Amino acid sequence: MTLPQAAGPIGVFDSGYGGLTILRELRAAMPQYDYLYLGDNARAPYGTRSYDIVYRYTLQAVTTLFERGCHLVILACNTASAKALRTIQQNDLPQLDPNRRVLGVIRPTAEEVGSITKSRHVGILATTGTILSHSYDIEIQKLYPDITVTGQDCPMWVPLVENFEFDSPGADYFVEKRINQILEKDPKIDTLILACTHYPLLMDKIRKYTPSDINIISQGEYVARSLSAYLANHTDMAQRITTGGQLHCLTTENPDKFNATAVRFLGHEVQAEGIMLN
Ligand code: DGL
Repeated sequence: MTLPQAAGPIGVFDSGYGGLTILRELRAAMPQYDYLYLGDNARAPYGTRSYDIVYRYTLQAVTTLFERGCHLVILACNTASAKALRTIQQNDLPQLDPNRRVLGVIRPTAEEVGSITKSRHVGILATTGTILSHSYDIEIQKLYPDITVTGQDCPMWVPLVENFEFDSPGADYFVEKRINQILEKDPKIDTLILACTHYPLLMDKIRKYTPSDINIISQGEYVARSLSAYLANHTDMAQRITTGGQLHCLTTENPDKFNATAVRFLGHEVQAEGIMLN
């Protein structure tokens, strides 16, 4: 495969709309760069899919973003970061192009936890796939062995967001249930990480059912800070990113549907292009 060598936008990938919460923070922190967002909305959610499938879908997305000129791709999806990132970095990148980079969202989030928790008990709210991968436990314990990590999967939360039910009264039941479950498992938790990029959309309800002395962390800000630092240290990569502040969106679903939803995540209109991944 021959990939374009000219500079290109930063690629941002998610299974659906959730990665737009990361994209928003990336653009706020680094408005000078161009961005190419890809949502695999037709095949979301990924959270309950097997390793093989999440890896295959994510590799298709990364390859598409490379073919469209990106030299740097952010997996703005915890499930893809947990299940596909390492294999793509170790096995696929050397063959596709050893000079391109794919980065995830788990490491930058794990790095921040150490300075936030005082009780040293942290809770992870995520998709079933991310929880079963134990990626957060492993990353946090590598950095901060004194922190106790407890995970809770929230299988209904992504469908609530993807189906616009995030501020409906029905969402309260599912949010309260999972918050209570994790706090029953470890009552010493003082920090909850929203380890799925869809969950910030449920923030009002999550806050409502969480005791006020518990920190609730959504990761966009941390991912943006980490990427900014990365590009400051890797000027060769920064030079391969086009500037001008343009955003183009790709979706595997109907573009009109994507546009109608994306505006609620981003606060401005987009004109997405419909594509097929294979
Ligand atoms: N937003 C994605 C994440 O951060 C996953 C949602 C899904 O497709 O299940 O895990």
